[in-house]
Amino acid sequence: MKNQSRKEFLQQSAMAGAALLLSSLEAVAFTENKKIKIGIVGCGSVSGQYLPHLSKSAHVELVSVCDIVLERAKNRAKEFNVPHVYEHIYQQLGGAPFDLLVNLTDMQEHGRLNKMALASGKHVWSEKPMANTYKEGKALLDMAREKKLRIWGAPAVVNSPQFAFMSKAIQEGKLGKVSAAHAHYGHEGPHWSAFFYEKGGGSLPDLGVYNLATLTGLLGPAKSVIAMTTIVTPERTVDNKGKIKVEAEDNAMIIMEHAGGVLSHVQSGFNYFDPYGHGGKGQDRHTISIWGTKGNMGLVGYDWAPFGVDLATMDSPTPVRHVPDPKTYVWQEGATVISQSLLDKNEPLISPEHALHVLDIIESARASSQTGQKISLQSSFRWPIV
Ligand SMILES: NC(=O)c1ccc[n+]([C@@H]2O[C@H](COP(=O)([O-])OP(=O)(O)OC[C@H]3O[C@@H](n4cnc5c(N)ncnc54)[C@H](O)[C@@H]3O)[C@@H](O)[C@H]2O)c1
Repeated sequence: MKNQSRKEFLQQSAMAGAALLLSSLEAVAFTENKKIKIGIVGCGSVSGQYLPHLSKSAHVELVSVCDIVLERAKNRAKEFNVPHVYEHIYQQLGGAPFDLLVNLTDMQEHGRLNKMALASGKHVWSEKPMANTYKEGKALLDMAREKKLRIWGAPAVVNSPQFAFMSKAIQEGKLGKVSAAHAHYGHEGPHWSAFFYEKGGGSLPDLGVYNLATLTGLLGPAKSVIAMTTIVTPERTVDNKGKIKVEAEDNAMIIMEHAGGVLSHVQSGFNYFDPYGHGGKGQDRHTISIWGTKGNMGLVGYDWAPFGVDLATMDSPTPVRHVPDPKTYVWQEGATVISQSLLDKNEPLISPEHALHVLDIIESARASSQTGQKISLQSSFRWPIV
């Protein structure tokens, strides 16, 4: 970024995205598909949320499912009428043809499997994170560009009407000059799989990732971060491995500096009791708050499942609740939405550069915690999003 202004970089990224979409559309058109053919790898917990959504889409044809625990793939195939079942990704990639791999495996497997999919000519939608490190993720994006393919990563929080409302309020100056923001998300930690607690796992890539995507999406790319991460529960019992040692952070706090002196704070963890349960349904409190010189606003519910935005301004100081209805938005819609984009010639709001920037923040937060230093970031993405 040294010889290029941030604005030029953002403009170029947007143009590169649009050009790539067109070239990948040509690839899809070449296969004469009217639907995007999908292969799913990873048939665990989250596939039970993705498959119902994907199977209802008119733009999607479910071709295959794959899981190293073959029984899981067989069960999902039966449940959702998917014709081809595989135990290993190389069998899936070389088997019944498809356009887009939807990667729903353990976080530590994402980079490796996404690379295999790109190498065999598939577009990729990956659950978060897109790779284990920013460097690995950036190499995947470069590889996709070279091969005229597309790769995207969760989360899909920028698609919610609540995100759009907040972003427009900021862009229109309703808050005056924005100065500070806070976001939090946590629960008691997943009980089904060990990977959440092993090296490469952690509450930041699993939970903090949503708040980081929302706050950078609203306030712009982070220029630097400073953070502390800890382990509060050093041992856990999980369904697939019994008693395990926790190796990845389960408690994290990050402060980000955005352009114009804006500071924001994200906290996430696997040791948060929530009286409203995992989904936070029925709660009235704000999990995201943004302050400016002339107003403030708060997101009700979690950013992945929001219930409204409370806005108060100098001109209208009694808080008013807006956008109480998420409409068609659901957090598990990412793969469906980008499939539609591949066919409809729209560039989606979700961008791989944004997902990689969030990964950069997570990696830098860990480096900051280890060294006690503030870490500068070079990565960026096109902004504002809405
Ligand atoms: N569970 C949720 O509610 C949820 C919500 C949002 C995002 N996510 C994300 O989804 C991803 C998966 O989480 P999960 O909760 O479904 O985990 P999970 O353990 O329930 O499922 C992962 C599945 O992937 C399979 N798998 C692992 N490596 C594989 C490989 N190399 N080839 C084929 N299959 C392989 C496992 O056997 C398992 O069935 C994670 O990135 C997680 O952060 C989960």
